[in-house]
Amino acid sequence: MKTLIVGNGGRESSIATKLAEDSEVYAIMGHANPTIVDYVNSSGGKYIIGDYNSPELVARFAEENEIGLAFISSDNPLEAGVVDKLLKAGINAVGPTRKGAEIEWNKLFAMELMQDVLPEATPKFWVAHDENELDPIFDEAKKEGVEVVVKPQGLTGGKGVKVMGKHLNGYDEAKRYAAEVLGKKIGKSDCVLIVEKLEGIEFTIMALTDGKTVVYPPATYDYPFRFEGDVGPGTGGMGCFNDKEKQLPFMAKSDFEKSKRIINRVINELDSRGRGFNGVLNTGLFLTKEGLKFMEFNARFGDPECMNIMSVLDTPLVDVLEAIRTKSLSRQNVQFKKKASVVKYLVAPEYALSKGSPRTFRMDAGKIGENGISIFFSSAIREGDHFTTVGTSRTVALAATDDDIVSASARVDNAIDRYVSGSLEYRRDIGSQEELERLRKMGKLLRSSD
Ligand code: GLY
Repeated sequence: MKTLIVGNGGRESSIATKLAEDSEVYAIMGHANPTIVDYVNSSGGKYIIGDYNSPELVARFAEENEIGLAFISSDNPLEAGVVDKLLKAGINAVGPTRKGAEIEWNKLFAMELMQDVLPEATPKFWVAHDENELDPIFDEAKKEGVEVVVKPQGLTGGKGVKVMGKHLNGYDEAKRYAAEVLGKKIGKSDCVLIVEKLEGIEFTIMALTDGKTVVYPPATYDYPFRFEGDVGPGTGGMGCFNDKEKQLPFMAKSDFEKSKRIINRVINELDSRGRGFNGVLNTGLFLTKEGLKFMEFNARFGDPECMNIMSVLDTPLVDVLEAIRTKSLSRQNVQFKKKASVVKYLVAPEYALSKGSPRTFRMDAGKIGENGISIFFSSAIREGDHFTTVGTSRTVALAATDDDIVSASARVDNAIDRYVSGSLEYRRDIGSQEELERLRKMGKLLRSSD
């Protein structure tokens, strides 16, 4: 079978790695991602460098290469309607249509849907289409003592959402940022959402669905903040872990079961509204003193979370995607290894802070592989015996599986210390013993007051 992926993040690297086990991988990338290039070549496929958000280009490449199955895994191509165009051209595709993916590219749609179907799990929120509407909203939030998160309505690559107390110092700064979102149309937004800030622990579950049946991989815990101790600007995610059980160390088994019920409700609702959702519904949830609360949806795998899921997926990914496409998904035909996994992104020192210029680094891929660690490149290219960063995004991720999170984390750190050189930075605290103790303690506190 010939499979097609589009994009060049660590997420797509892990998808290419997994697909190459059982198919010829074809790819459209913005730059020559070394992992994707290697797996395309070793599987006998082909790649081009081009605008993978262009439905016309993707459909043409798929037709020319007689692709048997395309998997569209990132937000911008889904919003652009790449799946719609592929289906129209008669190409098998997994991933939601533009209408299905609205749950991600329109945050107002997502909040209103949640308010309709699960008001008890939906945080309080306000919507402003005009700067004049901001004063009464912020007056009310202040009066009620509700701290807020300011969210552009549209896609911002994880960098447009700002949180009071983390990125925004007080109501006035939050209001100024909300006005900026409207004024500059950040995320191409027609409106801005002012959402109650949730206190608790955030986690994500990436449900696989054919529109009706839902299969659940283990929950994942992502590190969106740039620096250790969860400080600094928000990022697309500096790393992530999952445990060998479906729930995370700070969750009870019942929290996972409750999360499943929430996600099932949403998928049923999308189905009954004729949204034709299929692929991955990545739901961000918060464990709070008041129980589970909804935070946001992605209509695709998270990045880095996808690398965790690909690391523990025991079934060929091609088979999972075929089951989604043919609406024959079942819990029996998707298996996960009972392993913890930890992913850490290496980034340029200026990542999420300033633009910077290209940096070179070296990795001993052979030794890293011998130690059972996977390398998933993102914004980097190979140049002779070294690698160079491209653009301003995350550079490369390392992933390990093990019997527990702390061991997997230590193995990634060890591989970075010994086999990576150059001025890249990463978060050593991801999945560390201290981190897990902190999260366990917090989880216990939250559940005792639930
Ligand atoms: N890790 C967050 C995202 O993929 O959007």
